[in-house]
Amino acid sequence: MLKVWIVGSGGQIGSAINEVLDPLEIEVFNTDKDELDITETDEVLNFGEVNRPDVIINCAAITDTELCEREPELAYRVNALGARNLSIVARKIGAKMVQLSTDDVFDGLSRTPYSEFDDTNPKTVYGRSKRAGENYVKEFTHKHFIVRSNWVYGNGNNFVKRVLEAAKNQKMLAVASDQFGSPTSAKDLAKIILYLIGTNEYGTYHATCKGICNRYEFAQEILKLAGENIELKAVPTSESELSSVRPAYAVLDNFILRIIDVYEMPDWKASLKEYMSEKMEA
Ligand SMILES: NC(=O)c1ccc[n+]([C@@H]2O[C@H](COP(=O)([O-])OP(=O)(O)OC[C@H]3O[C@@H](n4cnc5c(N)ncnc54)[C@H](OP(=O)(O)O)[C@@H]3O)[C@@H](O)[C@H]2O)c1
Repeated sequence: MLKVWIVGSGGQIGSAINEVLDPLEIEVFNTDKDELDITETDEVLNFGEVNRPDVIINCAAITDTELCEREPELAYRVNALGARNLSIVARKIGAKMVQLSTDDVFDGLSRTPYSEFDDTNPKTVYGRSKRAGENYVKEFTHKHFIVRSNWVYGNGNNFVKRVLEAAKNQKMLAVASDQFGSPTSAKDLAKIILYLIGTNEYGTYHATCKGICNRYEFAQEILKLAGENIELKAVPTSESELSSVRPAYAVLDNFILRIIDVYEMPDWKASLKEYMSEKMEA
């Protein structure tokens, strides 16, 4: 049985991986901040050496971009040095390492989707600390998968949740029409991660659902599927109620997945529909 250590297991992506994996095929070690803080180097090394997982999936991070701007030391401690600590132990025990990363490693100034071969140029503390994490993983481990995604929604604080909450409490919602991305469900991301760890096709991957929209169109689709009727206004990011420090053009091209032609991500609207219907049934 494959032994997989899910780090940051209580977050959106960590919990989605738990939902999607087959417990008959995978023995899981789940840890989150309360059990194991990834910035504690000795504890991380000790946990890895005692449990000897075959795969380490690092879903732990400081993902609040505004918190990262306010507290850069915290962002670098967790997003960069935490990833370093896990890489050190992965190398020591010969485990495969999966590092979750983000479109925020790019500057967002492009008008065409970023491929894995484009140069990074992060503009935010979050993006810079995540790129530093990627670099540590590349430096310390050979058997790694760096999986970049964007606009992820699952069980946690995300754009879908914020739109639905606003719909309950407000008559009108102003959403940015100048931010572009590909909404991706945490479950779809979990599935591609579980696929990759069964291969030896190491390297960096972009993994987002298919299709591109702006935040306004994303909100429109969420409200339509939820049957909510509030007025939606398309505005620039500076006037948006749900904006944060993000690249304007956050579109990733799943270039490598496309050229190796073995795994296809679903369409973002189909994925969102499935997520919303599961949410409404629950
Ligand atoms: N969400 C997105 O749109 C998105 C897009 C692309 C990439 N990603 C990447 O995917 C990964 C997971 O994202 P997510 O959306 O699942 O994030 P999330 O819901 O914020 O989960 C992150 C988890 O990490 C934990 N954590 C924070 N500091 C820690 C520490 N020092 N030690 C151990 N655990 C710690 C958090 O615990 P607390 O909640 O207690 O702090 C939380 O459970 C991140 O690397 C993120 O950069 C996310």
